[in-house]
Amino acid sequence: MDRNKVAPATIAAQALGQVDERTREIVGTIHTSTTYVRDEDNQYRSGRIYARDHNPTYEQGEAVLTALEQGHASLMFSSGMSAATAVFLALSPGDHVLAPKVMYWSLRNWLKNFATNWGLQIEFIDMHEPDVVQKAIRRGKTKLVWLETPANPIWTVTDIALTVEIAHAAGATVAVDSTCATPVLSQPLTLGADIVMHAATKYLNGHSDVIAGTLTTREDSELWQRIKPLRAQLGGVLGPFEAWLLTRGMRTLFPRVREACRSAQAIADHFHGHPRVAEVLYPGLPSFAGHAIAAKQMRGGFGGMLSIRAKAGEAAAISAAANVQIWKRATSLGGVESLIEHRASVEGHGTPAPADLLRLSVGVEDTQDLINDLEQALAAVS
Ligand SMILES: Cc1ncc(COP(=O)(O)O)c(C=O)c1O
Repeated sequence: MDRNKVAPATIAAQALGQVDERTREIVGTIHTSTTYVRDEDNQYRSGRIYARDHNPTYEQGEAVLTALEQGHASLMFSSGMSAATAVFLALSPGDHVLAPKVMYWSLRNWLKNFATNWGLQIEFIDMHEPDVVQKAIRRGKTKLVWLETPANPIWTVTDIALTVEIAHAAGATVAVDSTCATPVLSQPLTLGADIVMHAATKYLNGHSDVIAGTLTTREDSELWQRIKPLRAQLGGVLGPFEAWLLTRGMRTLFPRVREACRSAQAIADHFHGHPRVAEVLYPGLPSFAGHAIAAKQMRGGFGGMLSIRAKAGEAAAISAAANVQIWKRATSLGGVESLIEHRASVEGHGTPAPADLLRLSVGVEDTQDLINDLEQALAAVS
């Protein structure tokens, strides 16, 4: 399949249309071997030596993702965290890094603790404010600008192209956690970003049954050359079965994400101005602070993630989550089943989530069932 001649949805559905030459099967194989035979003359002409470095099961899924992100190359990792931390570990102690105040909490904690102790100078800023980025960036000293958009759990939207312009002018690389946008809605590399990261555990796999992460690079940069061996050295390799499942999951990425977006928008519209809801946080609402930028850099929808704030406060939010019948009370996001969670309880101290906030990951169930369930859950808490 010529990736330049077909739509991204076709690339994903057919996993680039690859057919196994030997068997003619249209579904890729799971390769479980951990090691490869050395040639008699002591060479490894296959290019494969040991499965911590090379596993052919990764190749199809990585190629599909590279095509969807319009990048140069991709790597699958054993989790979103192992993909993200590989980017930071490819820097050097002493390097200055800008990271957003609002971002995936577990990575923020790792940056504040391990990465800082290791020697990175990490500054957490309001990444969605270009003036703030401009002031914080240090020419020649800032090596990496990390951004997440829309960002957990209040869906702050950052202008990727503008941030890239500021970062590149100062000589910094830009990496984007695009987990919630997915390659269906936005391609950060086409906006100038250098690396895009996904917690593939979420939308890319889409069925809440694989923990995985990915990185895709725009070009074969020096940083990418440092990241590549880190996967093998740190051992952040995905199991072959999980890699196969992830590749399978990506085949239904487009219909799943389109349906989640459509439903999330309907749910946001329904609860916006609702008597028991103080605020709906969703980039698809015209009243939302980041709406105009989201409309500019997200195509075909605003994502399947939104948050609602219970007017009656924290206890009411927790009780509403306890009352749902269809939504599942669980952490994570991006699966076919809808999830609800009281986010401050998960993130604890330092969370940007207001205490009355419920984070919603919209799946592909019937939209009216989801609305009715939230309605009854909210009604039951006075
Ligand atoms: C936006 C975002 N980035 C990164 C991660 C980390 O991914 P994983 O749980 O696969 O390590 C998550 C997980 O929730 C996430 O939501």
